[in-house]
Amino acid sequence: MRVVIQDDYEKMSDWAADHIAGKIRAHVESGETRPFVLGLPTGSSPIGVYKRLAAMNQAGELSFKNVVTFNMDEYLGLPHEHDQSYWYFMHDNFFDHLVDMDPDNINILNGMTDDPEKECAMYEEKIRSYGGIDLFMGGIGCDGHLAFNEPYTSLTSRTGVRDLTTDTRIVNSRFFGGDPEKVPAQALSVGIGTVTDSKEVLVLISGHNKATALAHVVEGGVSQKWTCSALQMHNDAIICCDEAACGELTVDTYKYFLDIERKERL
Ligand code: GLP
Repeated sequence: MRVVIQDDYEKMSDWAADHIAGKIRAHVESGETRPFVLGLPTGSSPIGVYKRLAAMNQAGELSFKNVVTFNMDEYLGLPHEHDQSYWYFMHDNFFDHLVDMDPDNINILNGMTDDPEKECAMYEEKIRSYGGIDLFMGGIGCDGHLAFNEPYTSLTSRTGVRDLTTDTRIVNSRFFGGDPEKVPAQALSVGIGTVTDSKEVLVLISGHNKATALAHVVEGGVSQKWTCSALQMHNDAIICCDEAACGELTVDTYKYFLDIERKERL
């Protein structure tokens, strides 16, 4: 696993956006006719990346014409037009700002489905039909959850219904008028296995409130308690984080990754 440490949120976003843009361009330049399949998260962590990718797209530097996206998760029971649905978030923060994204290439789990099991099975099938995900970008919760795979979700889980923990509902209540009861109790989410099946995974971790999670994910063992730690078993996983999130890494670990990444650039 690579851990790329950047000074702050802005630099973390610069690095991740450049990395993703580079992968999309390389895919197109390779002459590959299959679309580039990109997995996407919601939350405050990726907003800077979305702004940068949209700016590149508007400037004609990066095309999304041949990109298919799959979002990580969606609250169960929220319609598209609800301003806290992830469908709304993605359009508001990203898709509506792209000049050449084909709406038919946008995939987001339907939180209003009357058959969640079927919806999730179809999602997995659709990902497979494209030959899998090339790059899955993610963020994590303070408890290390990836997508909505809360602590103790199986590390081989597939897309399915998830019960949200009280902790997550409290943390996410900041978007629901501060009332955890207004945060849906369930969500649809890709599984940890769905994410780790991707060719590459890039997770953004920013801020002091994620420091404990980052330390567990990087330095702890692979554990279903910190579901993002499954990335330790992935061949091509990158954590891109900022200094603030590194507060609980040991000095040794911190120095190791700074050193190895500096060498990588030389
Ligand atoms: C939610 C989402 C996760 C996201 C997490 C962290 O729980 N389901 O996919 O990573 O929030 O969000 P933020 O980036 O705002 O800290």
